[in-house]
Amino acid sequence: MKVLIVGGGGREHAIAMGIAKSPKVEKLYCAPGNAGIAALAECVPIGVMEFDKLVSFAKEKGIDFVVVAPDDPLAGGLVDAFSEAGIRAFGPEKKAAILEGSKAFSKDLMKKYGIPTAAYENFDDAQAALAYLETAQYPIVLKADGLALGKGVLICMNKEEAIAGVKEIMQDKKFGTAGNRMVAEQFMTGREVSVLTFTDGKTIRVMSSAQDHKRAKDNDEGLNTGGMGTFSPSPFYTKEVHEYCVKHIYEPTVAAMAKEGRTFKGVIFFGLMLTADGPKVLEYNARFGDPEAQVVIPRMKNDLLEVMEACVDGTLDQIDLQFEENAAVCVVLASDGYPLSYEKGFEITGLENFEGKEDYFCFHAGSKFDGDKIVTNGGRVLGVTATGADLKEARKKAYEATAWVSFANKYMRNDIGKAIDEA
Ligand code: GLY
Repeated sequence: MKVLIVGGGGREHAIAMGIAKSPKVEKLYCAPGNAGIAALAECVPIGVMEFDKLVSFAKEKGIDFVVVAPDDPLAGGLVDAFSEAGIRAFGPEKKAAILEGSKAFSKDLMKKYGIPTAAYENFDDAQAALAYLETAQYPIVLKADGLALGKGVLICMNKEEAIAGVKEIMQDKKFGTAGNRMVAEQFMTGREVSVLTFTDGKTIRVMSSAQDHKRAKDNDEGLNTGGMGTFSPSPFYTKEVHEYCVKHIYEPTVAAMAKEGRTFKGVIFFGLMLTADGPKVLEYNARFGDPEAQVVIPRMKNDLLEVMEACVDGTLDQIDLQFEENAAVCVVLASDGYPLSYEKGFEITGLENFEGKEDYFCFHAGSKFDGDKIVTNGGRVLGVTATGADLKEARKKAYEATAWVSFANKYMRNDIGKAIDEA
């Protein structure tokens, strides 16, 4: 089969690694890809939102199967565009990708179908939101309705911060049109878990759990980022929690989307909070997490392409999804200054240290070729991942491997997986 992956970050590198292993693959392309993905796939310089060019390229090359990995093209309807051209594509159609694309939609869905989540109010109008803040409980969480590169969520400790938050989201439009609507949500406390699932719209298959570290600095301080590191599985995601979530969260979500005429095929990422009152949904994403994919895919035993085809074809009930009985830790090597301003274009050295090692992976998030050198090309640059017999071994190995690569302004958190010690 000829396969095209759309995307160019660490998640797509992990997906490319999974798909490249499939004996069904004859040729792999990635648009736009990056310098790491180039070792597995032919990278083509087409942006993820250039729908016409992507479809024309797929037709020209006779692509049999496309994987649309990032949120923006999913929400924009890229899977629909491929389907209209008669090309099988993995990922939700536009009408289903709204599960991530609109926070207000997802909160209303959960309320309607009794799926556990925090109490909330939706607002189209800043004045109404400001009036609500007068009697609201604090802390409160304000979320821009639309996609905002994972940055449109503000935790406000008091009324003053919340007033400033409404101004940022709805009046100053700091997150662009994503802030045309806003959700104000009760603040929940507990442990966060990321659970990725495959679904064909009827059946759901749950992947091994993971935990992300969203803040830029150690001890969960600093600004929110796309994710500075992950581990899998989460020791806090017990069998009991899993059984509760299957019954009250995962299966009801898939059924609710089908009932709404928005059948979801692809990956649903459940961002969960394990509260004192039980697991609740913090957010839905309509795709693999980044860097969750970098710790989940290396542990997957199945042929990733076969599972993705089953999601598209509606045959997921025939797949027995299995994971290794091991653990994985990913430490993101970023450019100092991320997520605000940072320099790029610095040479990355030491990448050869990962070659030929089955339990170490260096996923490229922001890299490109500059002549025959590989240079930094983003805020998150590399995701250094190691597997081990358990989480402690995987963490030790991942941190050792962070020293194998060098580039100017290299920055990382030093406490990825600290929670493992509390389990
Ligand atoms: N790591 C969180 C996300 O992918 O949104």
